Amino acid sequence: MLLHRRRFLEHIGSSAVMAAVPRFARAYAASNGGQLDPARDPLRPEYHLLPPHNWMNDPNGPIWWKGRYHLFYQLNPHASAWGDTHWGHAVSTDMLHWHHQPIALSPTPGGPDSEGCFSGSAVVADGVPTFIYTGVQNAPLPLVTLRDGSDKLRESQLLATALDDDLIRWKKLDKPVIPSPPANMVVTGFRDPCLWREGDAWYLGIGSGERGKGGCVLLYRSQDLHHWDYLHKLAEGIPNGKLAANPCDSGEMWECPDFFETNKRHCLLYSTANKVIWTTGEYDAEKHIYTPTRSGVLDHGAYYAPKSFLAPDQRRILWGWIRETRPEAEFTSAGWAGAMSLPRVLTVGEQGQLEIRPVAEMAKLRGTAEKATVQAKTPFRRKLADLRQELRVPIDLSMGAITVRLLTEGTEVWHLVVNVKGDSIRTSDVSLPLPFAPSSMLGLRIFVDNSVIESFISGQEVITSRSYSLAPGETEVEVSIAGKGRIEVDLCPLQATSKDRLAT
Ligand code: FRU
Repeated sequence: MLLHRRRFLEHIGSSAVMAAVPRFARAYAASNGGQLDPARDPLRPEYHLLPPHNWMNDPNGPIWWKGRYHLFYQLNPHASAWGDTHWGHAVSTDMLHWHHQPIALSPTPGGPDSEGCFSGSAVVADGVPTFIYTGVQNAPLPLVTLRDGSDKLRESQLLATALDDDLIRWKKLDKPVIPSPPANMVVTGFRDPCLWREGDAWYLGIGSGERGKGGCVLLYRSQDLHHWDYLHKLAEGIPNGKLAANPCDSGEMWECPDFFETNKRHCLLYSTANKVIWTTGEYDAEKHIYTPTRSGVLDHGAYYAPKSFLAPDQRRILWGWIRETRPEAEFTSAGWAGAMSLPRVLTVGEQGQLEIRPVAEMAKLRGTAEKATVQAKTPFRRKLADLRQELRVPIDLSMGAITVRLLTEGTEVWHLVVNVKGDSIRTSDVSLPLPFAPSSMLGLRIFVDNSVIESFISGQEVITSRSYSLAPGETEVEVSIAGKGRIEVDLCPLQATSKDRLAT
């Protein structure tokens, strides 16, 4: 993923940029003296977390501390394009309403993270919130671990501890706790540590891989978070014969591993080749080897590099990065790029399938729902006064197909079809088989938030879509069915979580 984020835009004349901006956003910019202002941008989500301006990518180090959720994320504080990675920080008491905090981690000139503070994890160790994250720096070739076709950087694993209970100030160790990959390996990357406690020790998995062999997670163990021993690969891929300058594109580098136990099952997530893969399987706690037995794609849309944590009520909560799908010229001129997905609860079903649902807290944002009956010849169609909505549509397995469409000025701009008879699900960009595992949650929950659409399908598949052609007061939602029967749909406006789209 690094390569195409790395191409920084040359200065683009404002008229070229404005031509690239969608029509409704152009109209608001025109009414704002030509300025694209994130606080008034109708494409900006209003109940998803995102920084006040500029670029964000991966969630980092989610942690519960002293009664509040803290979420950190990859932030470029200087531009709305990838680069100069810092850790942004936001706090919340409900995972929905966030307050921005000062930047938690910045590159230290001359230090092992001088070129960026990449992704990582947070734990509480001996009562102290602690980060382990990847620092990148320029280095002589033999020490370089990241080669993506344009950059050559050394990655090492760094530690920082909190100096206050608001997690505002952090003290970095000046030397890496894991300076280099295992001596006998030529890796495709060495980053994004995930940390967990097991028995009387700490364990850490690092995203990595080898050319011609595939991606992998390198497993380490420590008693004190400072001194680490390499054990072996926790899990690894198989050679797929693909070659790419950037090993993330060929699947030979696994980014952002996340390993945890939930419902007494083990689960490993990793991001590669533009996708997030989930696996569930057996973990041998004596030998510390994980054998995946089932796998799938965690989200079939514009979603990458998720990170989970254990909430105090023992729910396994996951956040992921929702990327832009519009041209780079558009998001750099908009002054913001990327958003955090809604918090999702992960569980593992009877047959080892990963189940994914939005957190129950989402109900707090719900206004008064409109309920309507839909039958074959009577679709439900409603103009949306604003674009913060949750649509619930039950799936009846005796039905032919259920279609949800968004139309702006009568023209379809997005659709999702559940073709029950054809066993498939299709949106404007993707197509996948209908999940077969029996589920008590048969139904669609579709969250629209301006340019973001998150669709949860029976708690088993998720598709995050982006659409830059939705406009309040112009866009209509339509639900129609083919075949016999009738369904009750529920359309519910959701409250914004901040007054000015800046999530303060
Ligand atoms: C995933 C990723 C990580 C890295 C971070 C840098 O999106 O490439 O592997 O730590 O982004 O921003």
